[in-house]
Amino acid sequence: MLPAERIEVLREQIRSHDHRYFVLDDPSISDYDYDMLVNELRDLESAHPDLITPDSPTQRVGGSPSSSFPVVRHPVPMLSIGNTYNDEEIRDFDRRIRDLLGPDREFAYAAELKIDGVAVSLRYKHGALALGATRGDGEQGDDITANLRTIRSIPLRIAEEAPLLNNIEVRGEVYLPHDGFQALNAFRAEREEPLFANPRNATAGSLKLRDPRVVAERPLRVFLYTLRFEDEAGALAVRPELDSHYERLGWLAGQGFPTNTEARCFAAIDEVIGFCHDWEERRSSLPYDIDGMVIKVDSTSLHGELGATMKSPRWAIASKFAAQRARTRLVDIRLQVGRTGVVTPVAELEPVFLAGSTISRATLHNEEEIHRKDLRVGDTVWIEKGGDVIPKVVSVVTDEREDGSAPFEMPTACPVCGTALARVGEEVAVRCGNAACPAQTQARVTHFTGRNAMDIEGFGPAVTEQILANDLIGDVGDIYDLDQAQLGALERMGEKSAQNLLRGIEASKDRPLDRLLFGLGIPHVGERAARQVAANFRSLDAIRAATEEALEAIPEIGPKISASIVSFFRNDRNLEIVNKLNDAGLRMKLEAPEGGADARTSAEGGEDAQVLEGGEAGSAASGAGSRAFAEKIVVITGTLTNYSRQEMADQIEAAGGRVTSSVSKKTDYLVAGENAGSKLNKAQSLGVEILTEEETEARLSGKQSA
Ligand code: IVH
Repeated sequence: MLPAERIEVLREQIRSHDHRYFVLDDPSISDYDYDMLVNELRDLESAHPDLITPDSPTQRVGGSPSSSFPVVRHPVPMLSIGNTYNDEEIRDFDRRIRDLLGPDREFAYAAELKIDGVAVSLRYKHGALALGATRGDGEQGDDITANLRTIRSIPLRIAEEAPLLNNIEVRGEVYLPHDGFQALNAFRAEREEPLFANPRNATAGSLKLRDPRVVAERPLRVFLYTLRFEDEAGALAVRPELDSHYERLGWLAGQGFPTNTEARCFAAIDEVIGFCHDWEERRSSLPYDIDGMVIKVDSTSLHGELGATMKSPRWAIASKFAAQRARTRLVDIRLQVGRTGVVTPVAELEPVFLAGSTISRATLHNEEEIHRKDLRVGDTVWIEKGGDVIPKVVSVVTDEREDGSAPFEMPTACPVCGTALARVGEEVAVRCGNAACPAQTQARVTHFTGRNAMDIEGFGPAVTEQILANDLIGDVGDIYDLDQAQLGALERMGEKSAQNLLRGIEASKDRPLDRLLFGLGIPHVGERAARQVAANFRSLDAIRAATEEALEAIPEIGPKISASIVSFFRNDRNLEIVNKLNDAGLRMKLEAPEGGADARTSAEGGEDAQVLEGGEAGSAASGAGSRAFAEKIVVITGTLTNYSRQEMADQIEAAGGRVTSSVSKKTDYLVAGENAGSKLNKAQSLGVEILTEEETEARLSGKQSA
């Protein structure tokens, strides 16, 4: 047999085994025999690289990490669906459809599980997977093809070869089964990485990873439930012989797609309602999360007739389940001190499995809440996961209360540093007023280094605790002074981990202004407020100097946030931290967005003019510099030896240039220091001229013109 023939035979066999294993859950060979087939294919392909095709089973994980996902427009918007919460609302839906279609029209309903995952779209061209995208805003989503290709149950090639009809779009839901979710969180717990709150969050997080090799390690699954045939131009191709949605699910399964086998067809709405109730009872028997049922008119030609509103189709509705509850025991009420000193009571629960995860803790909000529910340590309680993330204690089973239990009493002193707790103004919350309280410092560091702020890799809770326990830092401003010797000396921290941590710290200097502002942990300043304030004031200096009135001029900033920001920057301790961060070379300014964005107003145009004026003034000040970077767009990346990035940016701006944060076709120069990463790759691929630190200095000092 020729190598090309053997390769094709092996691919077919492997595809079929993948399908049996990942879709049908019915493997027919041992892992060993399967691996032998894959090895043989890999060997043949490396001996004949010209025979490698993108749809080969060996080519699932490919490409290098991407710095961003291209945006793609959906051929047809990905709508969401209306929700119903009781039987009457489902009957209303049925009545609406009958009114629209007119009397005596016969039709059936398909009812299926509403998978609690992340919606995706897959487009196949000439039978091969060509594009995979997220829902995004419904009109356009992210191109995550490389990540979706790693999901082994998604066929890279479909069976049907008929011309014209083999361009299809299928949509469905990517999800993580319970066992995969638990394994993933256990793995993360071991490495002290933050845990995912639920399988849906873990799925969404996985699909947005930059590196497909990491995605490939996540046991993601998918169910496909929508099918659209396209002609060559991408327009809808009608297939009258396949009008039934239910039969389309069968067609998809026949092509090798994973479909959910619990879908059923019914003639009457009461049967549909009965089916929904059945599943509400049985949902916990499934190995994955569902958050309701989806009811669809079965005939796809009727979908066209019924149409859609702006947001959702008229032919489908979701029947949402009530929040899931579980009974467990309240073992203790512990007090947690947050970064602003607010003390929150937390319920310690006997671990109980609920809706995809094990719950051992729930927030109790504040003292009043505990008294209102009369929660006592030792009580049997009901906990609930309301559609999302954080579980709450909803009620007490008072009948089962043990004798001698006592109502909860809020301690009067901070459980960590002993400072008397005080109620602040009208708030129900109590606070520990000691800014140096170790618990507060720990929480502030965790917040600052956290994913949504400076995102310092490796700065997990245990590492933070060690660093604080060894007095290596007093506040977040000291993080940038940590060195290899200090970190390497920590228990259980190897040389390599210390290096990685330092690299993470260095990389965090490049986070944009809004993340830094959020990271400072100013009370009431969330991510959104930080973005708005950063966008309006454009530098930390300007924010620091802003009055309450000036802050409140921003539409979404109210008196509470503005007062909090002003009081934060009046505090000497806080200013000291900000100065340390400035000296460390963090990004203290918002770079102007790159040209062309339509959000830019004439006011911002005015600022451009100022940059140029500043450039002239600056050039005089910096001596020989002249306007070496006049009107050039420059990005700085990596670690510089003689300057902080901010100093370099100031010099370039003084020489007439504009410094921006991301590399694009418009970038004129990339100044690359040591350990430059993805920006360097991107600049190289776009043909952007790359300057070393020395070359940049030479240009700035006028020895070489730009
Ligand atoms: S049909 C236009 N079927 O639920 C109708 N959606 O709230 C398209 N979902 O965005 C959706 N399971 O992400 C449909 N069996 C199922 C589903 C399902 C989960 C999700 C999907 C959709 C959301 C609507």
